Amino acid sequence: MSNSKPLFIVFEGIDGSGKSTQIRMLQENLKLMGRSVCTTAEPTNSATGGLIRDTLSGNYIRSTAELASLFLTDRISHNVNPVWGIKKLLGEGKDVISDRYYYSSFAYQGLSTDIDWVLDMNLNCPDVQKPDLCIYLDVDPDSCKKRIDTNRTHLEIFELDPELMKKTRAKFFEVFEKLGDSENIRIVDANKPIDELADEIFAIVKGLID
Ligand code: TYD
Repeated sequence: MSNSKPLFIVFEGIDGSGKSTQIRMLQENLKLMGRSVCTTAEPTNSATGGLIRDTLSGNYIRSTAELASLFLTDRISHNVNPVWGIKKLLGEGKDVISDRYYYSSFAYQGLSTDIDWVLDMNLNCPDVQKPDLCIYLDVDPDSCKKRIDTNRTHLEIFELDPELMKKTRAKFFEVFEKLGDSENIRIVDANKPIDELADEIFAIVKGLID
C-alpha cells in the first residue's frame, strides 16, 4: 500500500490522441499499487457542461470568450462540487485523473481570443487548483483525424478540420513554452505502442510517489 499524498493528474492532447485508453491504464496501474483512484473529465456533467456541449456539437453558437468563460465556470464546479469535485476526492485520499483541464482552454480558446486573458482568469482563480502533473499525449494530427473519422458518428467543432487540429497542437506547444517551469508538464510521444506508452507514463507518475 502506497502512502504518499493523493495526486491530481491531468491528461491533455488533441482530439483522438488516445487519452481515454491511457487514463484507464494508469488508473489500473495505480490501483495495483493499492491506491484509490477516481477519473474525471472536462467538460463535466454539470449544467454548465451541458451548455458547453451544445456549442461543441455546433447546435448553439457562442463567441470564444463566452465559451472560455463557460469552461472556467465548469472547471470551478469540477474543483469545488461537494459531491464529485476534485478537492473533495483528494480530501478523501483519492488520486484524481482528469481527461482535460485548463491547458485545453489555453490551446483551444487561445487560438481565437486573448490568450493572456484565458491564462490569467484560470491561473489566478482561487477555486482552480494546479495539477501535480500534466501528461500531454503528442500524436500526429493526421492519424488522430483518421481515428476520429473512423470511430465517431458525430464530429464536434474542433474535430472537423485537420488544419485546425494541427494549429491546436502547435498552440499547446506554444502554451507549454509560455508556462515554462511554473507547471509540471510532461510531453510523451503517443505514436508508440499502447503498452509501451502506458509503462512510460506509469514510470513518470511513480516518480511523484514516495
Ligand atoms: P474531449 O476530450 O474530446 O471529450 P469527448 O471525448 O467527450 O468529445 O473534449 C471535448 C472538446 O472540448 C475537445 O474538442 C476540446 C474542447 N475543450 C476546449 O475547447 N476547452 C477546454 O477548456 C476543454 C476542457 C475542452
